Parts: sequence; structure tokens; C-alpha cells
Amino acid sequence: MSEPESTAPYEAAHVSVLLTEVLDLLQPRSGGVYLDGNLGLGGHAGAILKRSSPEGRLIGLDWDDRALTLAQANLAEFGERATCIRSNFTEIKAVLADLGLDRVDGILLDLGLSSLQLDAGERGFSFRGSESLDMRMDDRGDETAADLLNKLSKDDLADIFYYYGEERQARPIAAAIVESRIKQPFTTTDQLVAVVERAIPRRFHPRKIHVATKVFQGLRIAVNRELDNLVKILDIGSELLQPGGRFCVISFHSLEDRLVKRAFAKDQRLQVITKRPVRPTEKECQRNPRARSAKLRVAERGVG
Ligand SMILES: C[S@@+](CC[C@H](N)C(=O)[O-])C[C@H]1O[C@@H](n2cnc3c(N)ncnc32)[C@H](O)[C@@H]1O
Repeated sequence: MSEPESTAPYEAAHVSVLLTEVLDLLQPRSGGVYLDGNLGLGGHAGAILKRSSPEGRLIGLDWDDRALTLAQANLAEFGERATCIRSNFTEIKAVLADLGLDRVDGILLDLGLSSLQLDAGERGFSFRGSESLDMRMDDRGDETAADLLNKLSKDDLADIFYYYGEERQARPIAAAIVESRIKQPFTTTDQLVAVVERAIPRRFHPRKIHVATKVFQGLRIAVNRELDNLVKILDIGSELLQPGGRFCVISFHSLEDRLVKRAFAKDQRLQVITKRPVRPTEKECQRNPRARSAKLRVAERGVG
């Protein structure tokens, strides 16, 4: 595989994962049109634009307006070859129709959060410190993490922690939350961390991750409807690809990866290129610990 191409100027804020592998498998070329559904800070997008020089085009979507502003600045050097749009990637059909396009030559999804969102310190994604329990990537979304914690039934909260967070102690945690919110509704991350710490007996506290990691993951997935969105785009993506066009998806936990694997396998239009998911090298994981859980799956649209 070739050496990674440099990412955008704001690379200190987010290091693009599996960049070399994405370029090798997406195979961007001049004249092609590529869709990046998770623009973030534009790291992958910039590399795709460089590789598809001089005439490749990139349509980048992100529903977080702060990410979008940074991506626009990062991709300014590509002029009209880059089009950045604030949108949920589930809307790609309408977005492409607005641009007068019905097919693209490749689709990339790099799911989840950017380091910018994780580290911004005010959106409640991190369990370190005290932040407002928001967790919306798109601030137009109507429900925050605090809303869910203060409103959902014990069973619904337990399901979120168990299914989305893969947290085995989901039931006692949900019970402790429902009890605690009677006295004081949830507003900040440290409140939630304290309740989780108390609800899980010490002997069950995990050693390698923070005790609240899985609860935070579950809540974040629920607030942003991440799995529903993924199912929707996996359902429509292949229809928007030109024959020979590739669909590349980077996921960060087993729930997402399972959905991608199944959707690719059952989609008659697609031929799976990566029999096993592509994983980052040890060198990449050392440079960027966030890459450790990444899995890349790629499928190609057949003719017809
Ligand atoms: C991991 S980051 C992408 C980083 C980017 N590939 C780069 O190299 O800079 C994921 C981005 O996807 C966005 N995102 C997540 N779900 C989305 C959705 N359903 N629609 C649009 N953007 C979404 C997040 O706001 C975040 O900025």
C-alpha cells in the first residue's frame, strides 16, 4: 500500500483513520464524483480530492455546523471541486438531486464522532470533567442525553445501555438513574458518572476502560439515532453508485460493523471486496489510539 497522503491543515484536531487503506480501496480518479457522508474536518475528503486531481469532485456532508465550517476552510484550496453541505447522510438522495446528480463514483462513511466533538468539552460526550449532558452531534436534534435520562422508563434506559452500550450492568444502572432523578434531574456528565460508579459494584468496575464508557456510548447512539441512520444509508447507498463504484464504511464498534457486513452481503447490487474487515496497522494505532477499534468494509456496485 502507498504512503498516506497528508490530511487537512486542522489535522491536529482529528487524525483521519485508515487513510491509506481508504484511498487504495475507494480508488478515486480524476473526473469521478465522490460522496463523503461524514465530512468531519475534511481529512479523508482532502485526500480524496488530491488523489482525484485535477478534475475529481467531492460532495461532503456533515450535520454538525462547527465541523462543516472547519471542513470548508480545510478544503478551500480545492475551490469548486469540493461541495460541503450541512445534512444528515440519510438525506443523500435529496442532496444529490439538488445538485443535479443521481449517481456517484464512490461513497465513504467514517462513522461516529470526530476528536473535535469529543474534545470540545462542552457537549457532554466525555465523562471527564463536568459538561452539560447534551450529546447531540446536530444541535437541531430535539432530544439531548439529559432529556432521555430524565424521561425514559427504567426498561427503556436499560435497553439503551444493554443493546447500544453493550453494558452488562444495564439494569442496576437504569434503576439507579430513575431513583436519582426523582431527587435531582440530570443536567451534567459528572452527575451521571457518579450514579454509574455507585450502581456498579466495585468488583465489576472494568480495568481497561472508564466505568461509564459503555453508558455514554449507549446514550450517544440513542440521542443521535446512529444505528437507524446507518441502516437507512446502507439501504439506499448502492442505488446511488455508478457501476464499478465503491461503498467504503469505517465503523468503530461491533453493532455498526455487524450492520455493514449484513447489508453488504444481502445487497444484490453489491459485490463484497473485503472478505474480512480491514484493520489499522499497529503503527497507526500507536500514532492514533482512536484507530484501534476501526474496521473498514468495502463493496463494489456491479454492472446493472
Ligand atoms: C469520525 S468523524 C469524520 C472525520 C473525517 N472523515 C475526517 O477525516 O476528518 C464523523 C463525522 O460524521 C458526522 N456525522 C455522524 N453521523 C452523521 C450523520 N448521520 N449525518 C451527517 N454527519 C454525521 C459527525 O458530526 C462527525 O463530524
